[in-house]
Amino acid sequence: MEKKRVTLIKGDGIGPEIADAVMEIFDAMELPIVFEEAEAGLQAVEKYGNGAPEQTLEAVRRNKIALKGPTTTPVGGGHKSVNVTIRKSLDLFANMRPAKTLPGIKTRYDNVDLILVRENIEDTYAGIEHWQTPDVAQCLKLVTRPGSLAIARYAFEMARSMGRRRLTCVHKANIHKISDGLFLDSFREVAEDYPDIQSDDILIDNACMQLVSKPEQFDVMVLPNLYGDIVSDLCAGLVGGLGVAPGGNIGVDTAVFEAVHGSAPDIAGRGIANPTAMLLSANLMLYYLGFAESARRIETAMATVLGAGIKTRDLGGSASTQEYTRAIIDALPPLELSGRPAFAPSRGAFAHREVVRERGDWNLQGVDVFVRNEGMPKPPEKVGKLSLHLISNRGTKIYPGPTPDIYLVDHFRLRYRATEPINNDDIFLLLGEIGKKYEWMHIEKLHTIDGVAMYSKAQGE
Ligand code: NAI
Repeated sequence: MEKKRVTLIKGDGIGPEIADAVMEIFDAMELPIVFEEAEAGLQAVEKYGNGAPEQTLEAVRRNKIALKGPTTTPVGGGHKSVNVTIRKSLDLFANMRPAKTLPGIKTRYDNVDLILVRENIEDTYAGIEHWQTPDVAQCLKLVTRPGSLAIARYAFEMARSMGRRRLTCVHKANIHKISDGLFLDSFREVAEDYPDIQSDDILIDNACMQLVSKPEQFDVMVLPNLYGDIVSDLCAGLVGGLGVAPGGNIGVDTAVFEAVHGSAPDIAGRGIANPTAMLLSANLMLYYLGFAESARRIETAMATVLGAGIKTRDLGGSASTQEYTRAIIDALPPLELSGRPAFAPSRGAFAHREVVRERGDWNLQGVDVFVRNEGMPKPPEKVGKLSLHLISNRGTKIYPGPTPDIYLVDHFRLRYRATEPINNDDIFLLLGEIGKKYEWMHIEKLHTIDGVAMYSKAQGE
């Protein structure tokens, strides 16, 4: 049998210890896998001045599959997160994280068995942030139609390939009506292609409450990036913490499997790290590669060992990384071909289907101009075809009408609208006039589709 080449990134802190544990188990099983090591993290920063060097990205592109240990992201400064770089450079648009109750691990809940699918690229993680004024910082939350359709399709395909029955979209479309609204609409659109899977949706705040009161009610959940980041750690907590939370980052034809936890510098080098999450991630990789039987052997051995109370310290046991690893090897059941279906996380190949859509008549109707000012500005009421429609501060309307008694920051939105068609020249004219009196920070064009506003209203409008 030809061996499968897998890029192995051991990473920082406890990374090498837990990666070695996984390799030891794979070696004992004589799996047809060859690990090719590549560097990322602190070592790579030292050597290449970059935590995720091109050589490493290229190695993953070549093998199309990687197992990754945690990497340290230095806080502050100009350091980009290695993980974010890897996800974005390889277009790993889906992050899947199972949370399943394991035997022998004391948790508040029994029978949790859910899978979280997180959009991995967009949302506030596009990393587009600016200081607008010395007092006001802005982060753009980008949600795209192709991105939302792709993650929804991945979630449905994955639910199907993992033998799941229900998929819940988690969002905040009651507040983020346009961005989360697009995410939810895309989910609903894709759901029509999967009548065999029950689909529904829930607000993120309610989802959190439900998760900590009745987690067993959920099956598969799909979330935008930021909510997914937070809720997946919450789910890890439901089943015993970071030490047992695996994950996979999936792209169109490439996947990187890694534990949810970080490099745990506080316990690195002491031989006490818990390799379970890394091993479960490696297991997801085995399923993905089609080695379901081997993955099941590891699961069975792990269940036996944990059930017998052989656990690392983070789980309340006293076993070292080595002792736990050896115990798993000793508990490996003989290879037997069972008739059970192989539930594997599906690939992402189908995700970017061409979206053909009648988008309607896209018209420029006005512009929001954001200006810096101490106190209420008095911008021109009318410039050319554009008339001042409202002024808001932090999204609350303060003009026209009575000014509410609120604290005003030095960042105002001036909304101008026209009743006849306008173009860029009208906006340049307006900016010229406003610029005579105020420093403007940025603008947002206001569009309509078939007369329907494609922008949000101010609070109080
Ligand atoms: P962390 O996950 O490394 O550690 C949090 C706590 O959990 C620590 O007390 C640690 O000892 C414990 N812990 C985590 N994994 C464990 C394991 N396998 N066995 C036993 N105990 C374990 O999170 P922290 O401290 O916030 O981050 C440390 C570094 O890791 C940072 O530089 C961060 O940027 C990076 N990080 C990397 C990730 C990745 O590469 N996937 C993910 C999260 C953080």
